[in-house]
Order: sequence, then structure tokens, then C-alpha cells
Amino acid sequence: MSNYSGSNRSVLHVVVLAAGKGTRMRSARPKVLHPIAGRSMLDRVLDAAESLHPASVRVVIGFAAEQIQAACARPGIDWVVQAEQLGTGHAVACAVANLEQTDLGVTDEDRVLVLYGDVPLLAQDVLEPLLATAWDHALSVLTTILDEPGGYGRIIRNSDGQLVAIREHRDASPDEHAISEINTGMLVARLGDLRQWLPQLAPHNAQGELYLTDIVSMAEAQNKTIATRTEPDPLRVAGVNDRWALAEIERAWQRRQAQQLALAGTTIIDPSRLDIRGVVTSGIDNVIDINVVLEGVVNLGNNVMIEPNCVLRNVTLGDGVRIRAFSHLDGAELAAGVEVGPFARLRPGTRLAAGSRVGNFVEIKASFIGKGSKINHLSYIGDTTMGAECNIGAGTITCNYDGANKHHTEIGDAVFVGSSTQLVAPVRIGDGATIGAGSTITNDVPAGHLAIARARQVVRGGWLRPQKIPKKTQD
Ligand code: UD1
Ligand code: CA
Repeated sequence: MSNYSGSNRSVLHVVVLAAGKGTRMRSARPKVLHPIAGRSMLDRVLDAAESLHPASVRVVIGFAAEQIQAACARPGIDWVVQAEQLGTGHAVACAVANLEQTDLGVTDEDRVLVLYGDVPLLAQDVLEPLLATAWDHALSVLTTILDEPGGYGRIIRNSDGQLVAIREHRDASPDEHAISEINTGMLVARLGDLRQWLPQLAPHNAQGELYLTDIVSMAEAQNKTIATRTEPDPLRVAGVNDRWALAEIERAWQRRQAQQLALAGTTIIDPSRLDIRGVVTSGIDNVIDINVVLEGVVNLGNNVMIEPNCVLRNVTLGDGVRIRAFSHLDGAELAAGVEVGPFARLRPGTRLAAGSRVGNFVEIKASFIGKGSKINHLSYIGDTTMGAECNIGAGTITCNYDGANKHHTEIGDAVFVGSSTQLVAPVRIGDGATIGAGSTITNDVPAGHLAIARARQVVRGGWLRPQKIPKKTQD
């Protein structure tokens, strides 16, 4: 069911424009697939569209259509191919023609919300006030005010302040260039009017395109009711046409996210050196030092310390966790009081119980490490279950892969593994067992036993070191 039903049971349809190549990006990749804060612009726009629960969502694609469909596949979206990119007006006309062919039972009173795939930071709260004006107007246009409006279509109002036209930057007079109110591209129109207006568009402009924006002067000429809504936050409706705009919007958005985190109780040493490419939840009194990237879903408890130059993707950190410098964590869950790094790598499926410790140049994958256990130096632990209070010596390796299959290593509580040990899986080490340094363990070790698996040391007296052979002198 649609959230948006006006009178006569009319409903809302969303059309997203994403057919252009984005020539100004100078990229082989279609513009709308370039990411902002880790997600493609089009994905972000589609989230915003879906948040409205409309009757339908159509995405107009053309350049690299298959690539876009594959990258942004999700149920409930209809793709419309605009074979030739003749302009935004033509793109909407393609979508409307497609909409007419469906069995949705569209009526003239339905409303069409147009979104642009290159305006990535909009969301429900930006669109709601626009939609609020939609049902009792033929046309509603979302505008904003910019200090530097260059490049955007300008909002032309008459002496009563009524919107009468949108003039593209390239077609605008010097007087019109001075107008700081711009067209965000987003608008809502009555379907019956679009049906009538769109076929009348003509390419009489600097770019020789069919401009959607020309429907404004058509509506004005027919004395239709036109509403405008001015978005107070320009960032939320900023468009991306080139990579510099992409970079600027990325930084501005990152700063916003850092601000939110800071105001919620996290100390951020330098907001310009934190990147959040996902969703972060956070307690209080956490400290994030410089050059940290947080990706996916990151949950931070209280009193967490993240030292410089760390990447954390899909991790949960309990209270008091300390991630030391240059560590890389992906798909890991760390309980309270755990310390990791510097230079640690935690891969998916790593779970570290309270108070455990992972030191430098240690890699852990798909393993559970029990309470208070320590793996402090130069080790690889994979497909392992480890009990509490173990001490794993430097250079320990779980040999979990036989070239064809992965095997499990099971280590009990209070196990001591001497340095430079290989545990050849599948293998079990019982509680309290001790492994002598330099061992290659291929058989299970029972609880409380000592295992040593290395060649016995040989000590010889009277050993003569080899002597250097003197070089022949030339005759
Ligand atoms: C457009 C608006 C401008 C507004 C600005 C806001 C028009 C004529 N101009 O200008 O008033 O200030 O956005 O960001 O609408 N597209 C298609 N098919 C086409 C042409 C474009 O799908 O034939 C898509 C593009 O892929 C893009 C969007 O429509 O996602 C906007 O096109 P773009 O060329 O970027 O328009 P702007 O010049 O930014
Ligand atoms: Ca644009």
C-alpha cells in the first residue's frame, strides 16, 4: 500500500533519471555508480525513493544500462531504457510511456516524483515537505539557495514571487546568472499534465536537448497552480557533475557524519581524517584518532580507543576495547577490554572474548579466542576454537589448509604453546597442555601433557668451521 494517496485514490510514482553518461566525470564508469561515503549515488537515491513507499519506482537508464542494473539490482524497481539521451524531459517521457503500459491502472490525478540519479544526499526528510504540496498543485518544484549557483538551472519568479520558469545556466542572461535560487531537479507533477506537456517539449536551447524544466513555463502559461519548496540545507540536494563536485560533497558529508558522532559523545581528533562509509553506532567517551576508516556496520561500546591508521569494517567493539595503530579489522566481534594491534589483521568470523590480547603481525580468521588468552606476536590462527587464559607463543601457525580442505584446531583452557609451533589441523590440544617451542604438532595432545615434536639437539665438540678458499692470484 502506498503512503501517498491524495483525493480520488490517486497515488505516487517515482521516476529516477540515470541514463546519462556523465561526460564531465571523465570516466568509463557511469556517473551514478560513483560512490559517496561508500555507496553508489544511485543506491542512495533508490533508498530515498523507497523510503516513501510509492506505488512504483522507475529508473531510466541508457549509458551502461546493464552495468547499472547489475550494480543496483533490487526487487520492486522497473527499469526503463532511454536508448538515446535526448534530455531530462525525454527521459521522463520514456518513463511515463512505460508507466502507461503497466497494469497499475494509472489516472490523470496520480503524481510523478522525479529524482535525479546524480543528486545523492537526499532522503525522506528532504522529500516530505515537497510531497506535502503535491496533491493540491499541478506542479511542485524543490529549490535551494546557493552562494555559488553556477551550473545549475535558475529559478525565475515574477513580481509576486510566483515561479514562472527555470532557466538553465547555459541559456541564462547575465541578470539571471545573478539569481542564487536554483532548481534541485526534484519535482512532483500531475500525471495528466505530464502527458500533455512532455510531447510539446522542443530542443530550443544551448544544448539542443528536451529539458524537463521547460514544463514550468508551460504550467505557468496554462495558469496551473505551481508550488515551490526551498530546501534549507543545500548539501542534501547538491548535484554531482564532475569529480571535483564528487570530492567536495564527499568531504562535506563526512564532516556532517563526524559532527553527529562527536555530538553524541565521541572525541574525534581530526574530523577531516575520519571516513565513515556505512552506519556507526556509538556509546560515549570513545576516542578516534586520525586516519580511521569505518565501513559497513560498526558498533562501538563505551570508552573505545581507536589509534591512528586503522580500517574497521563490520565490527562490534565492546566497552574499553583498544585498537592500536595500523590495524585492519573485518567482520570481527571484540568483547570488553580486548586489545588488538598495532599491525593486527582480524578477518571475518573472528570473535575475541573479554580481556583477550592480539599483538603485532597476528592474523586471525574464523576463530574464537577465549577470555584473557594472548596471541602477542607474528602468528596465524584460522578455523580455531581457543579456550580461556592461553598463551600462544610468537610465530605460531595453525595449518588449517591441506591444499583442498580447511580443518579445525581446538585448543582448551590454559594451554601454553611455545614459539614457532605449527598446529597441523585437524588437531586438539587439551586443557592445561604445554607445547614445546619449535614443534610441529600433528597428533592430539591430552589435557595436562607436554608435547615436543622437534629434532633433538646435537652438541659436538672439536667442530672445525669451513675455511675460506684463497683466491688464485693472476700470473
Ligand atoms: C539538471 C537540471 C538543472 C538542475 C540540475 C540539478 C535539466 C534540463 N536541468 O541539470 O535545472 O539545476 O539538474 O542537479 O533538467 N539524464 C537522463 N537522460 C537524458 C539526460 C539526462 O536520464 O537524456 C539524467 C542524467 O543521467 C542525470 C540527470 O538526468 O542523472 C540530470 O542530467 P544532467 O545532464 O546532469 O543535468 P544538469 O545539467 O545537471
Ligand atoms: Ca547533474
